[in-house]
Amino acid sequence: MKKLFTPYSKATLQLKNHVVMAPMTRSRAIGNVPNDLMATYYKQRSGAGLIITEGTSPSPEGLGYPRIPGIFTDAQVEGWKLVTNAVHEGGSKIFLQLMHTGRIAHSSNLPEGHQVVGLSGIKAAGEIYTDTGMFEYSVPTALDEEGIARIIHDHVKAAENAIAAGFDGVELHGAHGYLLEQSLNPHVNNRTDNYGGSIENRSRLTLEIVQKIAASIGADNVGLRISPFLTSNGMPAYEEAEVHETYVYLAREVNQLGLAYLHISNNPGIPEKTHQDIRDAFANTIIYCNGFTAETAEAKLQDGSADLVAFGRSFLANPDFIRRIEKNAPLNEPDYNTLYTPGEEGYTDYPVLD
Ligand SMILES: Cc1cc2nc3c(=O)[nH]c(=O)nc-3n(C[C@H](O)[C@H](O)[C@H](O)COP(=O)(O)O)c2cc1C
Repeated sequence: MKKLFTPYSKATLQLKNHVVMAPMTRSRAIGNVPNDLMATYYKQRSGAGLIITEGTSPSPEGLGYPRIPGIFTDAQVEGWKLVTNAVHEGGSKIFLQLMHTGRIAHSSNLPEGHQVVGLSGIKAAGEIYTDTGMFEYSVPTALDEEGIARIIHDHVKAAENAIAAGFDGVELHGAHGYLLEQSLNPHVNNRTDNYGGSIENRSRLTLEIVQKIAASIGADNVGLRISPFLTSNGMPAYEEAEVHETYVYLAREVNQLGLAYLHISNNPGIPEKTHQDIRDAFANTIIYCNGFTAETAEAKLQDGSADLVAFGRSFLANPDFIRRIEKNAPLNEPDYNTLYTPGEEGYTDYPVLD
């Protein structure tokens, strides 16, 4: 039998198979509060051993996109309970992805009275979706010392809220150009205090958040997503040796903290040496994601470079993805027009096998 379909057990990660549903923003959380429709969507996909939710903001200022959920109010915690109960009924584990969008935001997407923030006041290149059209990203207000402390506090409180909402753990979104990756990148973070400059300083925000969340909810219940060498969402490239060193340093540090997993958003730009050195630095579970098919995922599991493989679009368009790959059945293609539109269409109405 394929390794993909066999149970996985390491530390507190006890999963019915080696298949992870990747985090995917779907913008169905009206008023930024999770709801019954979202519970239905996630339950439909509970064939996965582990589900990682869509990016979820720890605070109002991290809600850079329309209708993304939060985890900072009582109503949001209650809403997420619908989701965690439904997924647990389906026999899957579920981690909440904590995503603060930082400068990848437009002020009109944020609740009133809040502003777009960043490590520095450097605007991202490009445009962002709002419900009234595409706009250039807002210029972020650089966080002062108090602002940094608030960000850390908000993440810890959000992780505690996630546990109260029934999640098995949280994944910190340190990838794809959002706040934590903004802090890592020397072209985006030009601070001169302890949170900017050297690799250690640029990693400090992520590591302090990881460390404080781990102290509160247990390191076993915390994962970190990273995307070395990815330049999407306005992330400028920087020197290869420095990127390599940054991520190996991060892997080593979170290994010492005993994190449950490192989730690598894979891309062809990652040199083999970086993969290998991260693998060597991190003893716990490694999840790979991006562009995998059942066959290529199985090969990654067999050659030992990954412990688990995450699938995004395949799960999005195929609620019964596990059954389809078990049966070698064809997959539905995602409808790109309804990725982020409110309502059931293109969300809970993808067809399943008879
Ligand atoms: C609609 C959509 C929304 C996404 N939202 C997120 C997100 O909220 N957080 C995140 O870390 N990645 C997000 N991603 C990236 C996916 O987790 C994954 O890395 C990507 O889809 C590549 O994997 P795949 O080839 O299996 O689809 C999103 C991808 C898609 C298609």
